[in-house]
Amino acid sequence: MQISVLFLLLLLFSNINAEFDKEKLSIYAGEASYSDKAQWQIPKQIPYPKDNPLTKEKIKLGKELFFDPRLSKNNDISCSSCHNPKYGWSDNRAKSIGDQNRVGRRNSPTVINSAFLQNFFHDGRAKSLEEQALGPIESEVEMNIKLDELVEKLKRIKKYQELFNKAFDDGITKENIAKALASFQRTLLSLNAPFDRWIQGDKDAISEDAKEGFDLFLNKGRCQLCHAGFNFTNERFANIGLGDKSDLGVYEISSDKSAIWYGAFKTPTLRDIEKSAPYFHDGSVKTLKEAVTICGNGGRKPVKIRSPFFRDRKLNEYDVDKIVEFLKTLTSPDIKY
Ligand code: HEC
Ligand code: HEC
Repeated sequence: MQISVLFLLLLLFSNINAEFDKEKLSIYAGEASYSDKAQWQIPKQIPYPKDNPLTKEKIKLGKELFFDPRLSKNNDISCSSCHNPKYGWSDNRAKSIGDQNRVGRRNSPTVINSAFLQNFFHDGRAKSLEEQALGPIESEVEMNIKLDELVEKLKRIKKYQELFNKAFDDGITKENIAKALASFQRTLLSLNAPFDRWIQGDKDAISEDAKEGFDLFLNKGRCQLCHAGFNFTNERFANIGLGDKSDLGVYEISSDKSAIWYGAFKTPTLRDIEKSAPYFHDGSVKTLKEAVTICGNGGRKPVKIRSPFFRDRKLNEYDVDKIVEFLKTLTSPDIKY
C-alpha cells in the first residue's frame, strides 16, 4: 500500500514532459516557506526558443494576427474573441464559443505570462507557444480554417505581405504565423502587481488582510504545493475533485492510463485571476470565493476522486475571504500592447 502511494506521488510530481528544459526558467516550483522570497521574485528575462528569437517585427505582426478575425473561416473570430484583454486575456464564458456559435468543451485560459509556461492547454498537450498557436486556427469549434487556406488568404492581403517580409526571410508560412503569434504572446506579462511590489519591499503595497491571506495560502491552505513560484503554478497536473466525468483531462491524451492522470488538469497560473472568471477547466464556478472554497476543502462534496496531494485543508469562511484578498493583489495594471 505504502509503495503504491509513493509511486503515485512520484508520478504526480514528476513532469509528464521528459524534455523539461530547466535552463529556460531560473525559478523552480516546490515547497516554499514565507521567508523564502526568492521564488516569488519575478524573472529578469523573457524565455524564448532558440529558433524564434523575440524581435520587434515579429511582435508587431503577431499582434495584428492575434486581433484579426480574418484568421477564421467566416472572418468573425480572432484569438482575442476568447483571449480578450478586458477579461484578463480570457473570456467571460464558462466554455468558449467558436465558429458558427459552436460551444467548445473547455474554459478559455488566460494567455498572460504564457511566456513562462512549458505545458500548454488544460491537459498540457502542447509544449510550446509555437506548437500551441496553430491548434485553435484549425479547430472546428474555434476558428475552423485550414492552415493552407489561411496562408493563401493572408498572401492576398498587402499589409501582411509587408509585415511578414519584415519579420521573416521566408515570408508567409504556417510556421511563421505560429512564430509571430508566439512572439506577441510572450510580451503579455503580468509581473507588476501590488504583490510584486510588496515582495520587493514596499510594506504598504498590500493590505494586512492580504498579508494574512498569503500566509494562509502558504501554510494552512498549502496552495503553493501546486500554485508555486512567481507565476503561481508548478505546471503539474492534478484531479482536484470537481467530479467532471465528461472530460478526463490528461487521461484522455496520455498513453499511460494510470489512475493518477484520471481527471487531472494543469495547475493554472493565479495571475490576474480576479479578472478571468468563470473558473476551472469547465468554467463551472463563477466566483473566486467559491473557487477558493473548493480548493481549500479538498474539492466538491461529495468528492469521489482526487489527487493524493489535494487534501482537505479545512479552510473556513474567514480563511477563504483572506485568501481572496491576497489573490486580488495578483492583478497587475492593464498590460500595454
Ligand atoms: C473559440 C475560442 C478560442 C479561440 C478563437 C482561441 N482560443 Fe486559445 N484557448 C481556448 C480554449 C478553450 C483553450 C483551452 C483548450 C484546452 O485546454 O483544450 C485555449 C488555450 C490557449 C492557450 C494555452 C494557455 C495555457 O495556459 O495553457 C494559448 C496560449 C492560446 N489558447 C492562444 C490562442 C491563440 C494564439 C489563438 C488564435 C490563433 C487562440 N488561442 C484562439 C479558446 C480559444
Ligand atoms: C494538488 C494541486 C493543487 C493545490 C494544492 C491547489 N490547487 Fe488550485 N488548482 C489546481 C488545479 C490542477 C487547478 C485546475 C483544475 C481544473 O480546472 O480542473 C486549480 C485551479 C485553481 C483556481 C481556478 C483557476 C482558474 O483559472 O480557473 C483557483 C482560484 C485555485 N486553484 C486556487 C487555489 C487555492 C487558493 C489553493 C489552496 C487553498 C489551491 N488552489 C490549491 C491545483 C491545485
